[in-house]
Amino acid sequence: LKRVRTRHFQTAKEQGSKFTGLTSYDQLTAQIFDAAGIDFLLVGDSAGNNVLGYETTLPVTVDELIPLTRAVAGAVKRAFVVADMPFGSYETGALEALHTAVRFMKETGAHAVKLEGGVRSADQIRRIVDAGIPVMAHIGFTPQSEHGLGGHIIQGRGEGAEQLLADAHAVEDAGAFAVVMEMVPADIAKRVTAELRIPTIGVGAGPDVDGQLLVWTDWAGLTTGRIPRFVKQYADLRGILTDAATAFKADVQGGAFPTEEQSF
Ligand code: KIV
Ligand code: NA
Repeated sequence: LKRVRTRHFQTAKEQGSKFTGLTSYDQLTAQIFDAAGIDFLLVGDSAGNNVLGYETTLPVTVDELIPLTRAVAGAVKRAFVVADMPFGSYETGALEALHTAVRFMKETGAHAVKLEGGVRSADQIRRIVDAGIPVMAHIGFTPQSEHGLGGHIIQGRGEGAEQLLADAHAVEDAGAFAVVMEMVPADIAKRVTAELRIPTIGVGAGPDVDGQLLVWTDWAGLTTGRIPRFVKQYADLRGILTDAATAFKADVQGGAFPTEEQSF
């Protein structure tokens, strides 16, 4: 079982074979997704919404993500593990970004880091890559700048297409090994994918990208509230767990659990 490396994503693009990624924030899902052959696991700052109980990703800290990332990195045999750099851990400059990236690499066993922003984050990306740390870039809708962008709005539409292309080229030139594009029109994502040498990864970017990434709790039907239209739900874990909890309670109240079989 060969570990996935950055060159495998490049080869996949060149050969036209699509790769897959899911978020993961813990050992058990990391083991399951790894064994199922998912190519990369992102320990996203979406842990803020999905694990830590925040409304947005903005409050998430490096100290909160490090133990989650360590759990995921320690659980995989094949998958490539990406540590997400949270808001406030890289914006002030390349040196701050490098310090944060080094912390993730030293303290978690992740194989790469991800940070948000195109042109505006190019200096940070270059500095981290120069230190030998692979960087996955993230452009289009970038949740850490939700308030600056004015909400969960599709990026790269109309005149925004030029900005998206500039961002894509900036991260490639800065040395990113791949770029995530979140919530952009499919035709623009297709154009970026054709123009770039590095692989593109879509999160709500249509079919014409090199790889697809989803937030696992959305994908597995665990998330409450509104799930973005670009997500396809592959399971109903919320329903399964609700039924299990309801059955457990009824069994305990009705005397059906535990029986002799579960007793010493
Ligand atoms: O944190 C996250 O889950 C992400 C992906 C949605 C791209 O950054
Ligand atoms: Na993120």
